[in-house]
Amino acid sequence: MKDRFSALLRTRSLGREHAFFDTIDSTQTQAAALATRGAGHGTLVHAREQTSGRGRAGRLWVSGTGSLCFSVVLKEGVVAAEAFQWSFVAGLAVHDVISARTALSPRLKWPNDVLVNRKKVAGVLCTLELAPTPSVIVGVGVNLAFDPASVDGSLAPRATTLAAADDPADWLAALLLALEARADAHLTGARHTLAAFRERMAFVGESVEVTTQSATFRGTCLGVDEGFELILQDTAGARHTIAAADVWPVERRGEEQ
Ligand code: BTN
Repeated sequence: MKDRFSALLRTRSLGREHAFFDTIDSTQTQAAALATRGAGHGTLVHAREQTSGRGRAGRLWVSGTGSLCFSVVLKEGVVAAEAFQWSFVAGLAVHDVISARTALSPRLKWPNDVLVNRKKVAGVLCTLELAPTPSVIVGVGVNLAFDPASVDGSLAPRATTLAAADDPADWLAALLLALEARADAHLTGARHTLAAFRERMAFVGESVEVTTQSATFRGTCLGVDEGFELILQDTAGARHTIAAADVWPVERRGEEQ
């Protein structure tokens, strides 16, 4: 994997420093540890297998043979107060690569899940390390050939696989190149990221169920505002903006990967 990846990599900086593991608890945990020890911008951690893969909101990330799991340390242009914007940047990069490499039509579920046929095929987890310099750790899990429903049937309504038979090293190199391009664009103005996200956003105009840490409510998804927050019109007609939540169409039942 490592040698094929190195031969395929076309980035300026992402992935140039890298660590490849056969089995590890979580690439996210490892990349965060490297960042706090001074690892440079673009440092990549890849694992063939994760034993404690981390998802958003404290969930476990279910993976297996055919998953692509990696984390990248971003330092250039990282401002702690705006760190959450990088998850939109990363979601767009994954969307770009799936669009380019398959005949599928992915959509982005706010804030950063990538859907195919309204089911999740990839998730992004962004975490922030403040010392020694602000770093965003971008963690990406893609169900390349792995189907989460094969290990947990309750995931079947909401998660699926790309059923991609091609080389994971090729996908990894392409994802890092796309992330670098989206990051470059983001650093010229977050409006580029916002505009691209709006064009690809799932469930706009649909009836959705929104689950925050403290409540679940329903309404119509109206899109995303200038601060990247979700806009929801509730069933009484009131408008809400939401900074952190899970969003699914009301008819969809099942667990999230
Ligand atoms: C989510 O959708 O909840 C985010 C999933 C992120 C999973 C990836 S896999 C690589 C990296 N390492 C982790 O432990 N998590 C992220």
